[in-house]
Amino acid sequence: MERIVGSTQADSGSIGDSPLLSHLSGTLIGSEIVKMNGDIKEKIRAGEKIFNYTIGDFDPSIFSIPAELEEEIIYAYRKHFTNYPLGEGETDLRQAICKFISDREKLNYKPEEVLVASGGRPLIYTVYRTIVDKGEKVIYAVPSWNNNHYVHFVEGEHCAIETTAENNFMPTADDIQPHLKGAVLLALCSPLNPTGTTFSREQLEEICAMVLKENQSRGASEKKLFILFDQMYWLMTYGTTEHYNPVSLFPDLKPYTIFVDGISKCFAATGVRLGWSIGPAFIINKMKSILSHLGAWSPLPEQKATAKYLLQKGAIDQYLKIFKAGLFERLQKIHAGFQQMKKDGFTVDSIAPQAAIYLTVKIEAVGKKNGAGVLLEKQSDVTAYLLNQAGLALVPFSAFGASHTSPWYRLSVGTVRIEDLHEMFGKLRDSLKKLN
Ligand SMILES: Cc1ncc(COP(=O)(O)O)c(C=O)c1O
Repeated sequence: MERIVGSTQADSGSIGDSPLLSHLSGTLIGSEIVKMNGDIKEKIRAGEKIFNYTIGDFDPSIFSIPAELEEEIIYAYRKHFTNYPLGEGETDLRQAICKFISDREKLNYKPEEVLVASGGRPLIYTVYRTIVDKGEKVIYAVPSWNNNHYVHFVEGEHCAIETTAENNFMPTADDIQPHLKGAVLLALCSPLNPTGTTFSREQLEEICAMVLKENQSRGASEKKLFILFDQMYWLMTYGTTEHYNPVSLFPDLKPYTIFVDGISKCFAATGVRLGWSIGPAFIINKMKSILSHLGAWSPLPEQKATAKYLLQKGAIDQYLKIFKAGLFERLQKIHAGFQQMKKDGFTVDSIAPQAAIYLTVKIEAVGKKNGAGVLLEKQSDVTAYLLNQAGLALVPFSAFGASHTSPWYRLSVGTVRIEDLHEMFGKLRDSLKKLN
């Protein structure tokens, strides 16, 4: 199923009382999640207990960064590593990244094929800027994290493929195939934010084979179809789930694949700000030029510290073991809670967690009336009802580009306190029981 979504909104506030500004600023929608958090914070300030499972972040009092990384950061500041870093990222860090991905993912890249930035965001933006011209087609699945906004930034043509629960919300080769002609960028993400699901080997192989064939069919003067492969959560898979990437599966895709990766999620280090891209040098060099004007480098002490930390294999394994166990426990408990509610006749569902910090849950209540007889007409009414009645804050898939009628939500567990879950489920059940 395919749907084209833009990031525009006509009533953006740039016209009317305010002076005219750029078309981009007038039409870009800010992060919906950040907006939701304004309302939530207001409620918390007013003393309400809110189970705020909206943010793709961690509560550092539950999930802290690795102690060794913290020590190295402090040490680097004490050593006064406080001037400009190298534009492409410090050499010791890029060497450490090459070793890290070679040891753990069997990906062989040289330091000159690595670009470091202040997290994944500036790199994703830079990939779009490097490849996509105005009006060129970008294929991405929805729900997915922020691709709709990045396409809007570059004024590309949106080719948004709405995925389904049957495929764990991952796009398939069949979904993508009809749109390949003329596309210049295919944005893939696995493990996927917002769903916590992953590509199976077969699914990704089919997509890769298709991209390779498409590129072989393009003439020398034609732009190729590049893959943006966002694997920000790849170290966070659970149970038997395995992570796959296009280049390990199809080495011939190396000239067409740009990875986005970093420490933000897999080391609970969202505030530390360090990410990297790896890809062919001719793309990485262009990205570096763009990034040099943005100045979105990762701070030098964080680079020096991460360079040392990434080489500490034992410490990393130990950290990931405990960190992942804590996250998986939460995901499993909440999944089990939703499945029990489903058994008990509630119109809810959830998808078994595979990776990352997200659980995909469904809450169907459109068409029902609340205790005061008011109809929940739209999914956004259901979202507001959950917040107001159960104190439960979730992000609807529409915030990730999916249809506004989608009854699916992202539930993020990085801030979940296990001792809250009993109360949360009690309130959720009570609030849904009041609907008729
Ligand atoms: C899939 C994915 N990629 C990239 C990012 C950006 O990460 P960073 O915080 O490093 O900018 C996020 C953040 O939520 C994400 O979910």
